[in-house]
Amino acid sequence: MHMLDRFYQYSLRNLLFALDPEIAHKGAIAFCQALSNSPSLRSPIAKLCSYQHDYLRQTLWGIEFANPVGLAAGFDKDAIAPNAWACLGFGFAEMGSITYHAQTGNPQPRLFRLSGDRAVLNRMGFNNRGAIATAAYLRDRLAKHKLDVPLGINLGKSKITPLEEAGNDYLESFKLLKDCGDYFVVNVSSPNTPGLRDLQAVGQLQGILSILQVENNSAKPLLVKIAPDLADDDIRQIVSLCLLHRVAGIIATNTSIARNNLSTQILSATGKPVAEEAGGISGQPLKARSTEVIRLIYQATSGNLPIIGVGGIFTAADAWEKIVAGASLVQIYTGWIYQGPLVVRQILEGLVLKMREAGFSRISQAIGSANDLTVI
Ligand code: FNR
Repeated sequence: MHMLDRFYQYSLRNLLFALDPEIAHKGAIAFCQALSNSPSLRSPIAKLCSYQHDYLRQTLWGIEFANPVGLAAGFDKDAIAPNAWACLGFGFAEMGSITYHAQTGNPQPRLFRLSGDRAVLNRMGFNNRGAIATAAYLRDRLAKHKLDVPLGINLGKSKITPLEEAGNDYLESFKLLKDCGDYFVVNVSSPNTPGLRDLQAVGQLQGILSILQVENNSAKPLLVKIAPDLADDDIRQIVSLCLLHRVAGIIATNTSIARNNLSTQILSATGKPVAEEAGGISGQPLKARSTEVIRLIYQATSGNLPIIGVGGIFTAADAWEKIVAGASLVQIYTGWIYQGPLVVRQILEGLVLKMREAGFSRISQAIGSANDLTVI
């Protein structure tokens, strides 16, 4: 085990985990912002945390990805650290969710660790400074500093906007931010904005995608992020709709409202049963279902619609499982918190070993390779 790894797992993590999760997150994001603003701080961190290998490179949607492991949405909701992610090893990073209106999110406490389950429960509720402020910050920043990884921008619906007006809410955010990101995500799957997941219904989603694609004119890859709790048939319908609307890909999956697979019964921070606490579960308990959803989408599209796989990745084996099930790219959030800053590099090194074992030299050969499409 690397010294820094040991330091994180046995010292820093204990310290961070002794703090209120939201305070720990604020500290972590402040550190990332300092990294983003300081090239001299970035170079020693990059030596420790990043890893380059030709096998890991790919071009997707005309965008070059140095590796397939990205930061999932929700960590940098205000896009305050856009230049931090390459030195931490990530091949891309997704900012947001960003809503048109600034909002404070749900009342605290709203972020909980379920350490026994290697999971997190969150009901943050899209706390962010809104699309106007984020676009102004990013525009200014990007004029002065080149990005070192592709940046995704994840759009959510403002809480105050009625569901019937959701399309325009996403549209206004998209108009403001469209020059600041490499790809965009329509997030209709967070469990923490009332009614948001109803926008996954084909009738609703169709309206949103039509409005956005008129403005977009296929200039930027537009993806849809879905929930793991949808029935398989609903996922197939969403996939068909996405193909119809020239959606560039699907992100599978967001957090889950299911409470099975959990060993934690009572949330110590509130003293209430986890089953009665609102919010979405991420991490280990999500892993199997999210991989299942990836496989389903891959098979339903014969591998023709790129998938970003996310949910419960802690190791190279977890990332590999998602890639061979059909994910072109993967993302990590909860695993990064539990495993520490060296985990991205460990995953990347492990992926290269897996590729060697399988006789692959390009990541594209691995994507979906566990599916035998001839028997479908
Ligand atoms: C999230 N996630 C998330 N997703 C999203 O699309 N918009 C968001 O604002 C957030 N916010 C958020 C906050 C917190 C605290 C967590 C833990 C997660 C979901 C995230 O991007 C990812 O889909 C899931 O967490 C599953 O991946 P992991 O965490 O199991 O690697």
